[in-house]
Amino acid sequence: MASKAIFSTLRRSLTKPHGGAVSRRHHLSTTSAATASEPYPGDEHAIVMKGVRISGRPLYLDMQSTTPLDPRVFDAMNASSIYDYGNPHSRTHLYGWEAENAVEVARIQVAKLIGASPKEIVFLSGATEANNTVVKGVMHFYKDKKRHVITTQTEHKCVLDSCRHLQQEGRPRVRLEPLMNGGGQERGLRSGTLATQQVVGFGVACELAMKEMEYDEKWIKRLQERLLNGVREKLDGVVVNGSLESRYAGNLNLSFAYVEGESLLMGLKEVAVSSGSACTSASLEPSYVLRALGVDEDMAHTSIRFGIGRFTTEEEIDKAVELTVKQVEKLREMSPLYEMVKEGIDIKNIQWSQH
Ligand SMILES: Cc1ncc(COP(=O)(O)O)c(C=O)c1O
Repeated sequence: MASKAIFSTLRRSLTKPHGGAVSRRHHLSTTSAATASEPYPGDEHAIVMKGVRISGRPLYLDMQSTTPLDPRVFDAMNASSIYDYGNPHSRTHLYGWEAENAVEVARIQVAKLIGASPKEIVFLSGATEANNTVVKGVMHFYKDKKRHVITTQTEHKCVLDSCRHLQQEGRPRVRLEPLMNGGGQERGLRSGTLATQQVVGFGVACELAMKEMEYDEKWIKRLQERLLNGVREKLDGVVVNGSLESRYAGNLNLSFAYVEGESLLMGLKEVAVSSGSACTSASLEPSYVLRALGVDEDMAHTSIRFGIGRFTTEEEIDKAVELTVKQVEKLREMSPLYEMVKEGIDIKNIQWSQH
């Protein structure tokens, strides 16, 4: 099994204090695709999809939309699919008990990571359901005592819309109700059969995070600095959106002055990045989170979110810098605004007239 081979290599490399841990990243690196032959892979690697021609599989730097699966998590899920196929809620036979056991192990793994009791962990389908359940559930629970919800504009839409929903309710007397009704699983808080393998995978991912988070954080911070310094060495007008100190290093959101964001994204097809949340990426509106952070409309329109992860390599970052710089320079060469700035004209004070 390929994943088994990867896993044993990973295990071996993880036992080494230096270098080895770095080498594990090469297994999942996407650089090789984009650098298979210089300067870009030939036609044999080209991909045409949705009318866009890409010279090879792009570098993956969109970790805030989703991350590649760690092969160790995959192996655990794979084994669980084969052995724990019973329904974890079946109480009458061994298959059910085994699946239930796998779920309970995962519950402990998740709880340990966040310092909670396993009893406090309720498995749901994802963040939208979790945020809806918590925001609405807590407010309904405290309906008689506390009648205000305070949120921030930078929250995800599923939090904001849950709060808006409460606002519309005007808070009449509402019974505390789970969002899903049915078999009463998860102690009545979330009906529906648990997806055992997803739960097992989540548990193993939490256990790995606990062991490796400190190392991952240092690695990711190093790559973030490499990316930012690399881009800034070659380009002016690069602004970091949000605080550079109080931020998760794996999310580097940059604006490139005098460049139209959509054109930049379209021209950067060899790097898989995005301008913001995948949930709102169909809209051409700039990110409402950036606007709430005080980024002005123009700069919010030129933003790109680089997402760095556990398996990202230095080679991928260097390639991303090279491709980004090239594309920004190309777009600026075509920009009359940039030309004016270069000539020393203060474009903020220009009086534009309509014809
Ligand atoms: C911060 C945040 N909250 C909630 C969600 C929604 O998650 P899900 O699709 O799992 O419901 C996302 C999705 O990317 C997110 O980024």
